[in-house]
Amino acid sequence: MGVNLPAAFQRLQRGAMLQGTVELPCVPALGDAYLEWVCQLFALLGSPFPESRLPELRDRLVEKLTLGFTASQHARLVLTYQPAPPPQPGLVLDVQVRLDSLKSFYEQTIQTHFGDRLDEMETGVFGRHPNAKVMDVAAQLPAASRILDVGAGAGRNTLPLARQGFRVDALELAEIFSHQLQVLSDREGLPVQVTQGDILDPARRLPRQTYDLVLFAEVFPHFRSPQQIRLAALKAYDALQPEGFLLFNSFVGRADWEPTPVDRQVAAVSQAFFTTERELTQAMAGLPLVLVSREPVFDYERDRLPPAAWPPSPWFADWTTGRLVFPDTEPPPIALEWLCYRRLTR
Ligand SMILES: C[S@@+](CC[C@H](N)C(=O)[O-])C[C@H]1O[C@@H](n2cnc3c(N)ncnc32)[C@H](O)[C@@H]1O
Repeated sequence: MGVNLPAAFQRLQRGAMLQGTVELPCVPALGDAYLEWVCQLFALLGSPFPESRLPELRDRLVEKLTLGFTASQHARLVLTYQPAPPPQPGLVLDVQVRLDSLKSFYEQTIQTHFGDRLDEMETGVFGRHPNAKVMDVAAQLPAASRILDVGAGAGRNTLPLARQGFRVDALELAEIFSHQLQVLSDREGLPVQVTQGDILDPARRLPRQTYDLVLFAEVFPHFRSPQQIRLAALKAYDALQPEGFLLFNSFVGRADWEPTPVDRQVAAVSQAFFTTERELTQAMAGLPLVLVSREPVFDYERDRLPPAAWPPSPWFADWTTGRLVFPDTEPPPIALEWLCYRRLTR
């Protein structure tokens, strides 16, 4: 790409100190786009990337992007440029990857944005109000039933459920959430027991046939494969009492849509991991659970949340309807859906 600047300004770049770092999510299926982006950046900086070294740069970008994406949806490609050592002209580029995890992503983000106001977490992070669907399913349970809230986050469902008298266990990956949730619960004397941990950890055992409701609200969008959905559903099944409810939400693709690797990878790094209808069916196949309801999260919550609680967060509408990931496709090919199952009597 040519950059049209007056010759006098271009000459200024000789005396400029050009150095910087760019961090990008890792989407290996877009390797050629990253290459083009680096070329445009270097052209803008007045140091066109040597044509002869483009194949080598492409290989390195794809290698690092693949390493990052495989390790975590929060890994970052870190591009650092600085002046080449004299007497060489131009810039040199270093390509690295930083393997941030989901856990560290939440812990760093919350520390940065809420570090000094953790008391506001319950209503300040994922929504001001509990999910309407969660409260509707809970309303079908006998008083003082036991509930497991997996990926409880800041407690926007855990705390209101406990205030209604349900005995709630919360399992949460990020320590900043699990610690603060226990602090907030204890302060109100609520029947809440919080554990820090990963539901997908094979060593993480849940108590058997204990809960009347096992809940995953906005957790599956962080998963990486349909197999992880199956593992979570299996664990939930074991932990449910006969006739207990499993409630989760997950992004599902439209039936007539075939996602490309780019679609899947961009969604995964945008906290919108999705399955196709077939993958979801396979993930739940053979489990002794009966589907009792299924509806789009956006419609369900919009129609039932109090007007003062709508929208739950600035990004809720675009995220749940798939527009955040697919802004140019109308209607978007994915949507977040509530799925509620019941354990068979056995
Ligand atoms: C988008 S937040 C939603 C929090 C809460 N459920 C709500 O709806 O307000 C997702 C939460 O799930 C947690 N989480 C994601 N994967 C998890 C896992 N494998 N095990 C336990 N918690 C997990 C994250 O740390 C995060 O707090």
